[in-house]
Amino acid sequence: MPRAPQITSTTDPATGVTCDALVVGAYSKEEGIELTDQASEVDGVLGGVLAKLADAGFKAKLGEVAIVPSTGNVAATSVAVVGLGKKEKLGASEMRRAAGNAGRRLADRSSIAWALPASADGNDLTEVTAEGSVLGSYRFTTYKSDAKPSKLASMTFVGGDAAAAERGVVKAEAATLARDLINEPASTLTPTALADRAKELAHSSDLVAKVWGPAELQERGFGGLLGVSRGSEEEPRFIQLRYVPAEPKGKIVLVGKGVTYDTGGYSLKPPGSMEQMKTDMSGAATVIGVMSVLGRLGINLEVVGLVPATENMVSGKAIKPGDVITHYGGKTTEVMNTDAEGRLILADALVFASEQEPDAVVDLATLTGSMVVALGKKATGVFSNNDELWSELRTASDTVGELTWRMPLWSDMMSELDSEIADYKNVGSRYGGAITAAVFLQEFVSKDVAWAHLDIAGPARSDNDKDDLSKGGSGVGVRTLIEWLQSRSA
Ligand code: BES
Ligand code: MN
Ligand code: ZN
Repeated sequence: MPRAPQITSTTDPATGVTCDALVVGAYSKEEGIELTDQASEVDGVLGGVLAKLADAGFKAKLGEVAIVPSTGNVAATSVAVVGLGKKEKLGASEMRRAAGNAGRRLADRSSIAWALPASADGNDLTEVTAEGSVLGSYRFTTYKSDAKPSKLASMTFVGGDAAAAERGVVKAEAATLARDLINEPASTLTPTALADRAKELAHSSDLVAKVWGPAELQERGFGGLLGVSRGSEEEPRFIQLRYVPAEPKGKIVLVGKGVTYDTGGYSLKPPGSMEQMKTDMSGAATVIGVMSVLGRLGINLEVVGLVPATENMVSGKAIKPGDVITHYGGKTTEVMNTDAEGRLILADALVFASEQEPDAVVDLATLTGSMVVALGKKATGVFSNNDELWSELRTASDTVGELTWRMPLWSDMMSELDSEIADYKNVGSRYGGAITAAVFLQEFVSKDVAWAHLDIAGPARSDNDKDDLSKGGSGVGVRTLIEWLQSRSA
């Protein structure tokens, strides 16, 4: 992973900052464009070339970028104008998206100075500018023979607050760590490798890591995780990361689905549906990403991150449709469809999470294709037994520009999961599949624990480079959860 860029701020005029690229902003108008005050100042010494960009077809649409070579009068080597869209619509989300596009276009420069509006409507924009630029310039280049990783090494914020920019970078790094884990192929990111990465991270991030393998899982009766992993040559791992500040204001447990590869098992997926299934550990990546920055952000809550990690494979030993597993805690499930494996491993983890007596449990999982059908590729479906928790998560996701939508936990649908021989079946009918998955999970959460289940099957992966997203793993949920933890810890 590339090192985080050095952050500085300056009160010098933008024209005097020495760097590879100076970024200024422009608003789109009914007719033409309007340069920001800082852009106008720069344009003054450039002889008006920025204002003339409109004649060359530049409309200053949100995220549109034009780059011009600077003349000797500006210390920067080149000047980039980024479109901020309509002036009256500019807010944090818009600025993050604009900065994401600028960051991507400028990822081959090593020093960038940002001279964009530092606030709008009283909201500070420096943090989101920094965050968006790091997210937008992210590239996963490990396996490219002509690797061109982002060269971004330093960023100066003209008229902005360096501490705010630093916070933005830290949050973006949590998400890019998640992206790195998601984008890594499954044969290198095995459950064991994921656990090793988590342990390394614990060292550098002041977390306590505990990892259980088959023997410990057997002893404790984690039948869901062991059952799903039975068809794999790779051993399962149950990863626990614990963050304990001096005087915590509460206790939160985060749970992430860590299926490092989902073939479907004997209920085998067709090839097209299997292609992206290395991303089936996105929930785990999100949890690990969040855990990695709690100390740096000074979160004042005890936070426990739990990741059941396994492959879902086929072999002579694999679980078969009709088999019965006994979860951690003793409930039993008849596995009618081995491709509904996420809920089996999450069930164990949710019982374990409930035992920690937390104030809230949030799980994240690429759980169902049905969720993608319902809400599309960009939104997270949130199922919660607690109105307040939902409203907190909704507020947090709005703040960071991620889409969430509340889904119902209709207990009526539990009857679809009646089993002839066990407590539950693991699948119902085809209809409302995201809901049956969620009501199944709810059976494993203590009634008195506030719980939210985030089905991230759609947004866990982005199909294109756009705004602050890069094609591949998105790290969705990382910034929402950080924002939520920050607000609970304040
Ligand atoms: N990992 C998949 C869900 C998924 C689908 C994630 C598409 C990302 C994109 C999950 O394990 C799964 O296979 N779910 C099944 C459940 C079904 C068998 C009840 C599904 O959604 O088809
Ligand atoms: Mn599956
Ligand atoms: Zn899966």
